[in-house]
Amino acid sequence: MAVLICGGAGYIGSHGTAALLDQNEEVVVLDNLQTGHREAVMDGAVLYEGDLRDGAVLDIIFQTHSITDVLHFAADSLVGVSMNEPLTYYDNNVGGALNLLKKMKEYGVGRIVFSSTAAVYGEPETVPITEDMPVKPGNPYGETKLAIERMLHWAGEAHGIRSVCLRYFNVAGAHPVHDIGEDHQPETHLIPIILQTALGQREKISVFGDDYPTEDGTCVRDYIHVHDLIQAHLRAVDYLRGGGESNVFNLGNGSGFSVQQVIDTVEAVTGKDIPKEIAPRRAGDPAVLIASSDKARRVLDWQPEQQDLHTIVKTAWEWHQRHPEGYRGGGAL
Ligand code: UFG
Repeated sequence: MAVLICGGAGYIGSHGTAALLDQNEEVVVLDNLQTGHREAVMDGAVLYEGDLRDGAVLDIIFQTHSITDVLHFAADSLVGVSMNEPLTYYDNNVGGALNLLKKMKEYGVGRIVFSSTAAVYGEPETVPITEDMPVKPGNPYGETKLAIERMLHWAGEAHGIRSVCLRYFNVAGAHPVHDIGEDHQPETHLIPIILQTALGQREKISVFGDDYPTEDGTCVRDYIHVHDLIQAHLRAVDYLRGGGESNVFNLGNGSGFSVQQVIDTVEAVTGKDIPKEIAPRRAGDPAVLIASSDKARRVLDWQPEQQDLHTIVKTAWEWHQRHPEGYRGGGAL
């Protein structure tokens, strides 16, 4: 029995790979290394460098290994880029998932945990957001994830493939034990950008808008530690193995922090002053995104352990200090 992890060399996927290896599962990773890193795949996993849209590599994997479960992390995930390159996003995200599902059907693999996103909700009318609220993505990235959720639904109805869609809020932090963390080229996410500023690699952080209808005028997000997020994936795998029906869950902490509060937290954790400038709003940014994860707690019996923003930032800071240039720079392993 083996678990196939699509995108298992990426930031979140590599934490999934580590967690499954830690519980002695046989792990097969498929990653095209477009944004993933070979070094992020822990020893013990079998890595195939290849693309989900390539049926031949999936044939090899499904014929070589007894895959029983799939975790699907592989996708393009930048909201801003998706606005300019919608067809690329549909091609890679929807095309990749479509091919994967066709092959799962062909080889009789019936369980998949899928990385979806809070971006499916667009600008929510109220927070915290629950799974039954309307979905109306405000960008092609969110649309592609929603299209895959719908595809999974119908593949379940027709072919018995059961799925759990996990709608992530803002994932951050680094592995508390293993030496893996967040390394995007280029980096666009708030916490690593502030940490790069703390390391002196950037002059300042641009705060995208301070005139939002929030307490300090900057956007509020729900930050979840990558380790907690992955623990929810393990619960989701168990849930499906136990016969659970297809389902959708939000994954967040249920509390929001503004961009300014994140900067303050990084200053407290690193002991460095973070120079900042107020920049124009970034297109497509909702003012406030906060999850209700009550359903995941209830149905999956999931309990996040590192909810404190200080702890989340601290684990990311430790990794960034060890790997100031990311995986490319090597660093202490
Ligand atoms: N921000 C800044 N300056 C920066 C970078 C970010 O002010 O240099 C702000 C953004 O405007 C936003 C907040 O910090 O208000 C968080 O931005 P991120 O880019 O870190 O994260 P997003 O909330 O935009 O996006 C994340 C995931 C997406 C996912 C989305 C779901 O990265 O993949 O959550 O809502 F779609």
